[in-house]
Amino acid sequence: IEDLTPIKDTQPYPVGVAIDSRETSGSASDLLLRHFDQITAENHMKPEAWYDEAGVFRAHPDADALMQFAVDNDLRVYGHVLVWHSQTPAWFFQNDAGEPLGTTDADKQALRDRLHEHIFAIAEDLSTKYGLFGDGNPLVAFDVVNEVISDSADFADGLRRSEWYRILGEEFIDLAFRYADEAFNQTYAAAGADRPVTLFINDYNTEQSGKQLRYKALVERLLARGVPVDGVGHQFHVNLAMPISALEQAITAFGDLPVTQAVTEFDVPTGTPVTEALLVEQGYYFRDAFRVFRAHAEDLFHVTVWGLTDGRSWRSSNGAPLVFDDGYQAKPAYHGIVDGELPE
Ligand code: G3I
Repeated sequence: IEDLTPIKDTQPYPVGVAIDSRETSGSASDLLLRHFDQITAENHMKPEAWYDEAGVFRAHPDADALMQFAVDNDLRVYGHVLVWHSQTPAWFFQNDAGEPLGTTDADKQALRDRLHEHIFAIAEDLSTKYGLFGDGNPLVAFDVVNEVISDSADFADGLRRSEWYRILGEEFIDLAFRYADEAFNQTYAAAGADRPVTLFINDYNTEQSGKQLRYKALVERLLARGVPVDGVGHQFHVNLAMPISALEQAITAFGDLPVTQAVTEFDVPTGTPVTEALLVEQGYYFRDAFRVFRAHAEDLFHVTVWGLTDGRSWRSSNGAPLVFDDGYQAKPAYHGIVDGELPE
């Protein structure tokens, strides 16, 4: 591992990285611990990850590995994600006979009960195993709902037509936050402490105007109803053509609301073929983006990159989207983030 200035020492907010258990040992772990002070489970805290094949609740072994890694190394954990339309077992939305739940009162109540059980089981599992309510609690936040905003402008409420929505309508979002607030509060309250788990809503393309307007309108409705949403996440899966000003504008757009914000899943593929010139251009992009993030540090709970090394990224086929290469070497993107020297 190169003897470089740790990224985390150069930024005014925690700097996170999405990982799975592969990054908890060897050179990957050395690199991670040098540069980052927070982790997100890339997949192993998603709804389906908490259930075995028979649908029985249990923490995924990799989720446990990540939590233990965080405890051992004094890292913060950003939970991802309690409620999503994707990576959720089909039985969530079915009755005992395996038929789709409808919208009768009984079916709606069945889904509310399932949501309640799911969120409480996760909170209880984490609190029992990792002393969430004492010193050294690694879990600082959770994405409560992910990607609930529609990609199109077709619906007055701006919400994605998911199974959650089909059965419960907008109510599922309120309930998810209220249950998460209760689930993480009950045990904290018992320990005489406030809930230290910040509750986030999270979405992509929030740097684009239509999605952003729909996103903000929802957050405003939630706040008006007293729903305990604490934070607004911007995934920022962007590319070199996205103006930096759009990232700044997205953060500014929510500045008048009583919420914190975060950059939750940052990555910037170069396009292919990946050339030296594109990697340098990417370095400038990371430099300018992180200058904007630092300028808005007061609004940001953390900034997270969506993967440690290029080959491990979900967008690797779009061209080297991350900060370190597969040999664990710093790319120009690293020098951009720390505002160091970049080639002309
Ligand atoms: O683990 C299985 C493996 O056993 C199997 O052989 C293999 C075959 O396809 O699949 C593996 O699962 C894959 C999983 O990643 C773990 O690698 C899934 O197919 C694959 O779909 C899954 O992709 C993840 C994706 O979410 C799923 O929607 C990506 O890693 C992950 O980076 C991505 O993350 C999302 C965020 O949660 C939400 N925001 C967007 C972001 C990017 O899509």
